[in-house]
Amino acid sequence: MSFTVAIDGPAAAGKGTISRAVAARFGFAHLDTGLLYRAVGRRMLAGEPSIAAAEALTPDDLADPDALRTAAVAEAASKVAVIPEVRAALLDFQRAFARRAGGAVLDGRDIGTVICPEAEVKLFVTASAEVRAERRLKELLAAGFETDLGTVLADVKSRDARDAERASAPMRAADDALTLDTSAMGVEEAVAAAVAAVEAARVG
Ligand code: DC
Repeated sequence: MSFTVAIDGPAAAGKGTISRAVAARFGFAHLDTGLLYRAVGRRMLAGEPSIAAAEALTPDDLADPDALRTAAVAEAASKVAVIPEVRAALLDFQRAFARRAGGAVLDGRDIGTVICPEAEVKLFVTASAEVRAERRLKELLAAGFETDLGTVLADVKSRDARDAERASAPMRAADDALTLDTSAMGVEEAVAAAVAAVEAARVG
């Protein structure tokens, strides 16, 4: 039986942490759909045309997630994600994943609105740009990158604007999504709220 949890929201709002925790708790498979766009962005940075890269994507492109988590690849991902043909090329894989037997959690920008509007649970996880930039700065410094808050905040804001303002599948909360603002929430509280939403849908 399939059961889909769609988790959307901007960068560094806590989607990944919440998605992994929900997947572990219920034994669902998890797909970080941002990695697909990052893999296309990486191939684009290496000189390949974006649409061809999206059409040729294979599991090998996702084999080294650390190489996909750099700021340059994030920026490239946000740029290729604007192209409707890139999004179309990634659609079937995501839909099939969402409906796999045993349950699935997908996190991204358009899961509840475009990829899986019939998802049993839809969450929109957000936080203020300042809080998200602080979180991202900590991660980047811990990973050994040299940067500062001003730079990270500017990156976060420009990526938000591009993701939310594009014509094709813009980032937005589905009308029936539960919004979780994690600005003033600890990880445990945010995960508990997400788990409660899934439990309510499974009972209902
Ligand atoms: O979640 P992330 O930061 O890894 O995503 C990288 C970029 O990919 C993001 O800026 C926009 C794009 N993206 C998208 O357009 N749709 C998704 N479902 C996931 C990511």
